[in-house]
Amino acid sequence: MTSCSALKPLSARAGSALKGRVRVPGDKSMSHRALIIGALAVGETRIDGLLEGEDVLNTAKAMRALGAAVERTGPGAWSVRGVGVGGLAEPAGALDFGNSGTGCRLVMGAVAGCPITATFDGDASLRKRPMRRIVDPLEKIGARVRAAAEGGRLPLTLEGARDPMPIVYRTPVASAQIKSAALLAGLAAPGVTTVIEAEASRDHTELMLRHFGADITIEAEGAHGRRISLTGQPELCGAPVAVPADPSSAAFPLVAALIVPGSDITLADVMTNPLRTGLFTTLREMGADIRETGSRGDAGEPMAEFRVRASHLTGVEVPPERAPAMIDEYIVLAVAAAYARGTTVMRGLQELRVKESDRLAATAAMLSANGVEVGISGDDLIVHGKGIVPGGGIVETHMDHRLAMSALVMGLASQRPVGVDDTSFIATSFPDFVPMMRGLGAELS
Ligand code: S3P
Repeated sequence: MTSCSALKPLSARAGSALKGRVRVPGDKSMSHRALIIGALAVGETRIDGLLEGEDVLNTAKAMRALGAAVERTGPGAWSVRGVGVGGLAEPAGALDFGNSGTGCRLVMGAVAGCPITATFDGDASLRKRPMRRIVDPLEKIGARVRAAAEGGRLPLTLEGARDPMPIVYRTPVASAQIKSAALLAGLAAPGVTTVIEAEASRDHTELMLRHFGADITIEAEGAHGRRISLTGQPELCGAPVAVPADPSSAAFPLVAALIVPGSDITLADVMTNPLRTGLFTTLREMGADIRETGSRGDAGEPMAEFRVRASHLTGVEVPPERAPAMIDEYIVLAVAAAYARGTTVMRGLQELRVKESDRLAATAAMLSANGVEVGISGDDLIVHGKGIVPGGGIVETHMDHRLAMSALVMGLASQRPVGVDDTSFIATSFPDFVPMMRGLGAELS
C-alpha cells in the first residue's frame, strides 16, 4: 500500500487577470487505456502525450509486472510491446494502484480474462472504494475472488478465468469503469460480449479497441443508453496513440479564467469527445464566454482549442442525465456556481459519493467553509451563488486531487484567501498544476 506522504498545504489569493496559452497534460482515461490495451496487443504501441501522473505511472508499472515491455522513450513518449489477448503473466507481487480507481478496475478486467492470479491494492482512499460492482461481471465471465477485505474491497486477490465465457451484462450504474472492465475481460472469451448501459458513459475503451483492430459495435439503447458488442479473441495489433489534453484537467484553468476579472486564456488540444464535455455545455448555459477556435481529430477522438474569457455567470439547473459526461467536473462546477448569480441545482450526483472522496459532502464542506450558501437534498447539490465568495477557509482535501485543485481555483477570486490542507494528491492527475497556474498569473503560495 502507498504510504501517506507529508501534507503539503497551499493558499490561493485574488490577484491580476489570468493570461496566456497552455496545454494541460494528456487525458487520464486515454492514458490508462493506451497502456492496458497496448499490453494486450501484439507488436509495438507508441504513445505520445501520455499523462505522466502518479495514477498512470502505477498502471504502467502494473502492465510491466503482468509481462508487457513498457518503456519511457522521452517526455510523454512511451513504447509498449504487448503479450496478446489472454497472454498476461502472473505478477510476482501485489499490484499497487495508489489512488487510482480507473487503473485498478480496468486492469482487473484485463486480468480476469487470463489464467493467472493477481492481488490488487491501493492507498487509503482506494481501499475505501467499492469493488463489488467491478467483480460482478468478471465473475460471470469466469473469474473468482480468492480474498478481499471487508465488503469486497482492496486488497483483493482475483483469479482470472481459465475458460472465459462471453456475457450479456447490463451495468447497474452509468460507469465507464464497469463497462470497460467487462469489455477487457470479454476480449479473451470466444463469441460476443455485450454490455448494455442505460446512460452512455465515456467510450474511450470502445474507440481505442476499434483503433487496435477489434470488431466492436455501438448501438443506441433507449433514450440515453448504449449497447456495445465486442467479438472476442481478436488479434489486437499495436497502434500509435496520440493523447489529447484532458478536458477534466482543462476544467481548472477554464473555470479560473471565467471567475478572475479581465482574464483571457487559451487551452490547446483539449479532447472534445461528447461524452466528456458536459461541463462546457453547462458553463455555456450559465453565460460563459468559451469559444472553440479550431477542431480536429486524431485516433478516433476529436479535439479543439478553447479561448476562455472572464464572464458574468448565472445559476442553472443541471439535469441528472448529463452526469456521466461531467462526472469528474462537479466540484469545479460548484466553484463556478458560487461565483454565479442565482441558484445552481446539480441533480443526480449519487456516484460522487464513491469517488476519490465523498465528493458530494466534501464539495458542500469546501463551499460552506468559505462562506458560500450550499445544501444537499437527496442526491442533488444546490449552490446559492451571490457573485462573490468571502473565502477565508481551509479546505480539507481527503486525498482527492480534484478537491484540492477546485479549492485553489476558488481562492483566485475570493475576498480572502482560500487554503487547502494538502496538495500532494494533485500529482496523481496534473503534476504541473501549480506552476502552470502560476504561469497564467495565479497567486498560489
Ligand atoms: C473513468 C470513469 C469515471 C471517472 C474516472 C475515470 C474512466 O468513473 O470518474 O475519473 O477513465 O473510465 P466511473 O466510470 O466509475 O463513473
